[in-house]
Amino acid sequence: MGKLHVFDHPLIAHKLAILRNKKTSVKEFRELVSEIAGLMCYEATRNLPTREVEVQTPLATAKCRMLAGKKLAIVPILRAGLGMVEAMVDLIPSAKIGHIGLYRDPVTHLPVEYYCKLPDDIGNRHVFVVDPMLATGGSAVAAIDFLKQHGCKTISMLNIIGCPEGVEAVQKAHPDVNIYLAAQDECLNDHKYIVPGLGDAGDRIFGTK
Ligand code: PRP
Ligand code: URA
Repeated sequence: MGKLHVFDHPLIAHKLAILRNKKTSVKEFRELVSEIAGLMCYEATRNLPTREVEVQTPLATAKCRMLAGKKLAIVPILRAGLGMVEAMVDLIPSAKIGHIGLYRDPVTHLPVEYYCKLPDDIGNRHVFVVDPMLATGGSAVAAIDFLKQHGCKTISMLNIIGCPEGVEAVQKAHPDVNIYLAAQDECLNDHKYIVPGLGDAGDRIFGTK
């Protein structure tokens, strides 16, 4: 069974408080999404396998550890997931990047797919799906369905804010997937927005409203 990890870290909590504030500017919002994504990436990669290597320093041979196991991929759910990519690639420069375009139909709130481009070897990689918001979970479940159809077996999900409905939907459809959240909020409102949440993540990252 995949685990739910809700980070309890002072830096993440502080940045998230500013992110939620409706007065935070688009520029600052975008920077904060990126900074939080970097901190989440650091925590979510804590248990990646490593192997021992010997490195020749200017003074002696040092026994060191380097990443081992599956290569990594980062897959943002467009649009808002794009805001989390750069900080993650800065930390994992060898990761390949796939894109899955989904938007929520404003009436049914169901995800509609409009784009998908994945690395050829995605099935052999450990995939980190990234999206700031896990609301009904419809987008996350659809993205993970899609990745599994492409052969992916090791998938982790990183969302800045989630809620019980979204977590339950992902855990029910994909019990093997680990979910990492910076915060788990109370519930969804009638429009399926997370409450208290931060509003529409895509609009706040790209300044479209
Ligand atoms: C938002 C968000 C998630 C989705 C979450 O995207 O970034 O992808 O909604 O909702 P769900 O869990 O109920 O599926 P949105 O559809 O607003 O598209 P955007 O990123 O292009 O703004
Ligand atoms: N998408 C968002 O951007 N925010 C929410 O609260 C729910 C879905």
